[in-house]
Amino acid sequence: MNLHTQRLLIRNFQNSDLEVFFNYRNDPLVAKYQSWSLPYSQEKAQAFINEMKDIHAPKQGQWLQLAVELKETGSLIGDVAFCIKDDDIRQATIGFTISSAYWNQGFATEALTVLLDYLFEDINLHRIVADCDTENIGSWKTLEKLSFRREAHFVESLLIDGVYTSEYHYGLLQREWRARNKPKE
Ligand SMILES: CC(C)(COP(=O)(O)OP(=O)(O)OC[C@H]1O[C@@H](n2cnc3c(N)ncnc32)[C@H](O)[C@@H]1OP(=O)(O)O)[C@@H](O)C(=O)NCCC(=O)NCCS
Repeated sequence: MNLHTQRLLIRNFQNSDLEVFFNYRNDPLVAKYQSWSLPYSQEKAQAFINEMKDIHAPKQGQWLQLAVELKETGSLIGDVAFCIKDDDIRQATIGFTISSAYWNQGFATEALTVLLDYLFEDINLHRIVADCDTENIGSWKTLEKLSFRREAHFVESLLIDGVYTSEYHYGLLQREWRARNKPKE
């Protein structure tokens, strides 16, 4: 499964991604608001790649994580993911990570734009959601830049390492994505 942008190739993970993937998963800056805890072992990284490299089509209820490769250098710079809801084939949750060396260069926006095009246009999803820690400014700014609407603010709703953190929930509809992308007359 390949998606192209000007600078990026979104593709399945492959065995040669192991070292770079393992390194950015273990970066405290990257992991700070994410679901995995540190240290993230080499075994877990290998198991992740083994699982993801052979998934070529989305399956309801299963996360599909795709590698984000910088075309210019062939380097792995992050990943984007989606999971179609178990009980509704036209709704999905997305996730995204960019290695900290590549932050603030528009890569998350670029990778997610082509992923949203794929989800809304190629497989006709109706609604896509995402959630993030309220302190994860880069995450919610990226979502808002892509026109996601903040639909909920859950206060101290998630217990992480003994601390209650707060979350924003975001949503975006297919018709809103299309209206946003419609050429201006
Ligand atoms: C969130 C993340 C993916 C953003 O990646 P990125 O490639 O740096 O994002 P972009 O360059 O496309 O930036 C998108 C917008 O967010 C803003 N932004 C990104 N990081 C920011 C930060 N730390 N603080 C403030 N704004 C930030 C950018 O300025 C840009 O807005 P603008 O164009 O209006 O200026 C990246 O910081 C990351 O991987 N973080 C760790 C993993 C994570 O938390 N993922 C999200 C889980 S919910």
